[in-house]
Amino acid sequence: MTTIDDYLNNWLRDAHAAEEQAETMLSTASDRLKDYPDLANRIRQHQDETTNQRKLLEECLERRGTSTSTTKDLMAKTSAMFQDMGKAMAGDEVVKTVLFSYAFEQMEIASYRILVTAAEAAGDQQTRSVCERILQEEIAMADWLQQHSDAITRQFLSREADTTARSARA
Ligand SMILES: [Fe+2]
Repeated sequence: MTTIDDYLNNWLRDAHAAEEQAETMLSTASDRLKDYPDLANRIRQHQDETTNQRKLLEECLERRGTSTSTTKDLMAKTSAMFQDMGKAMAGDEVVKTVLFSYAFEQMEIASYRILVTAAEAAGDQQTRSVCERILQEEIAMADWLQQHSDAITRQFLSREADTTARSARA
């Protein structure tokens, strides 16, 4: 029989695997965004937060007497898919980065909301407060992306228009 504690452990492991994927994804993205310093900085900040989140989840799993799993879960597979799609998009990767990062943050927000509720149900207040804290960081990142999405898209499109105009003159 699967207990509440088992479910909580499984979902914590899923979240941990997703954070591991996010670390790779964010570091690849921040290296490629030299022309978009605000986005690159915000992504680097979230990269640090993500590394910390991964460690916090490891502590939760350890405290709960279980370990991280090496099996890639659904979220990790999804983020790997984002990464591949990102690689396939030449030129407009800044826009794709905003798109995939926002979608990924929404998935993380949903996942940490579930974890907060599950930790509460399991009576594990420490895990609950860790997940609550991580949830706030994911919400802040998603909000930032939402607020900057229009400006980044416009900046990208006007750069593209400049490049097209320059090559038409050449
Ligand atoms: Fe995260």
